Amino acid sequence: MAEIKKTWYKEMSVYQIWTRSFCDSNGDGIGDLPGVYSKLDYIKSLGVDGIWFSPIYPTPNADYGYDISDYKNINPEFGTLDDFKMILDGAHERGMRVFMDLVVNHTSDKHQWFIESCKSKDNPYHDYYIWRKGNGKNPPNNWLSIFEGGAWEYNENLDEYYLHVFAKGQPDLNMDNPKVREEVKSIMKFWLDMGVDGFREDVITFISKAEGLPNGFPLPVATGVEHYKHGPHLEEYLAEFRKVTDQYDCFTVGEGPMTSVNDAVKFCSDGKNKLLDMLISFDHMNADCFMADWVKVPFSLTKLKSTLTKWQDKMYGIGWNSLYIENHDHARIIDRYGNLKYRVESGKMLAAMYILQCGTPFIYQGQEIGMTNMAVKSVDDYKDVLTFNTWRIFKKLGFSEKRFLKLSSEVNRENARTPVQWNKSENAGFTTGTPWFGINDNYKEINVEDAENDPDSLLNFYRQLINFRKGNELVIYGKYKEYYHANPNLYVYERVLGNEKLLVVCSFKEGSVKFKAPKGYDLSAGELVASNYKDNKIVDNGFVTKPYEVRVYKF
Ligand code: GLC
Ligand code: CA
Repeated sequence: MAEIKKTWYKEMSVYQIWTRSFCDSNGDGIGDLPGVYSKLDYIKSLGVDGIWFSPIYPTPNADYGYDISDYKNINPEFGTLDDFKMILDGAHERGMRVFMDLVVNHTSDKHQWFIESCKSKDNPYHDYYIWRKGNGKNPPNNWLSIFEGGAWEYNENLDEYYLHVFAKGQPDLNMDNPKVREEVKSIMKFWLDMGVDGFREDVITFISKAEGLPNGFPLPVATGVEHYKHGPHLEEYLAEFRKVTDQYDCFTVGEGPMTSVNDAVKFCSDGKNKLLDMLISFDHMNADCFMADWVKVPFSLTKLKSTLTKWQDKMYGIGWNSLYIENHDHARIIDRYGNLKYRVESGKMLAAMYILQCGTPFIYQGQEIGMTNMAVKSVDDYKDVLTFNTWRIFKKLGFSEKRFLKLSSEVNRENARTPVQWNKSENAGFTTGTPWFGINDNYKEINVEDAENDPDSLLNFYRQLINFRKGNELVIYGKYKEYYHANPNLYVYERVLGNEKLLVVCSFKEGSVKFKAPKGYDLSAGELVASNYKDNKIVDNGFVTKPYEVRVYKF
């Protein structure tokens, strides 16, 4: 067994904030940094060691901050640089680190570089972006964007098209231009010098595009993706950026849509060729859908187990995993892999299932109180460019608005973006004004205040798990092994370090399932360290599960 290199970022847990919907301090209906500041003690009370901010830079909101118009400032809707520095200090004083989202595959079309770039072909910023001549009357190739129709936008003045693999308002940077890479490094240094502790790097695996931009395999969206999902210079550019982060005591986690565990081994292996400290994989988020969230299939536990086990096994002793089940890009997890009828029970089971694996756990705002998906009455109630594009495509396929809304309410990422439900008061205590986006009707039952007052709440279970993991080398560094892989209802795994063992038993079923401890285990000799029911009798070295039961035993 390889000796794992121990590091602080492997031992931490991280809370993700999508500021716009976190907490509004001034009644304009939009979450902001003073709002975050007012909740620092709450965040600390979860036991986490760091905060990752989804983008908080100035933005025209074509993609709610993932379209940046100034990399070295703060979105005025959220506050000022001084507000940010207060949070940085406040977090550091409380022993928490702060991570920024680094979005450099693209900028906003309102970024000064892009505005200059459009002025003329010999403008020094023209080559910051990917401009091409059309192919006769057609765009340069057949690529489609991930968010909004074609991937090319025509500029009449220049008689050229620019590439945007996401929305029109998100022109792709030309990373082949060394000046652009210098800009990226200067952005990194700016924040690191201020005291920021690292970056979550947005779609960072997309930054290098194939030479000649060849036509892609025709798909309904994202045609061409095979030519940039892992482009020819990706590793070279990541290595260049790594030289900057290596000069600081910081960490990096790269978002890698469509990356495989083999890519993760290549990018994240401990040692001198390491490019990123961790990757955000998407594999395990596809256990109830196909390719992307919008093609639903019934949830398959064996599919989930296969992907998680593959990442656990292949990365062990080599690199490091990030662990998550929610973020701002996915519907709420209890609706997906759990069961609303057993919201708290299944929420606890899911929490233990992923937090006790080997890797750094990320917890997304609202996940800790078990927030759920939200239905809306009309497509106009939505806010996200991705929803509107998907509606356009589904309409063409003959879907009625009603049918689309039903599907959408189950799968879309707006579900994760409804304001955090703090208490029972009007607007869930998120704002005293009119919230920028709908508040889920269930805030009177699901909110932080009630969860605080209930010792058995999901919130308190998250605290228990996060604190159990803290400083516990068995949970942090122990070796993972899965049992009963073929069982479609139970997820059973162990963690082993030296002569200590942890056994995690999760039922994904409402009905009862017979569980018998794996060979070599004597359950009655174990210490029950977490469970989601009061009655934890052991019968015949096992038990018959209650709905979505989880038990964690330590030996
Ligand atoms: C990432 C972000 C997502 C964003 C996209 C484009 O996937 O997580 O929210 O829309 O990149 O920047
Ligand atoms: Ca506000």
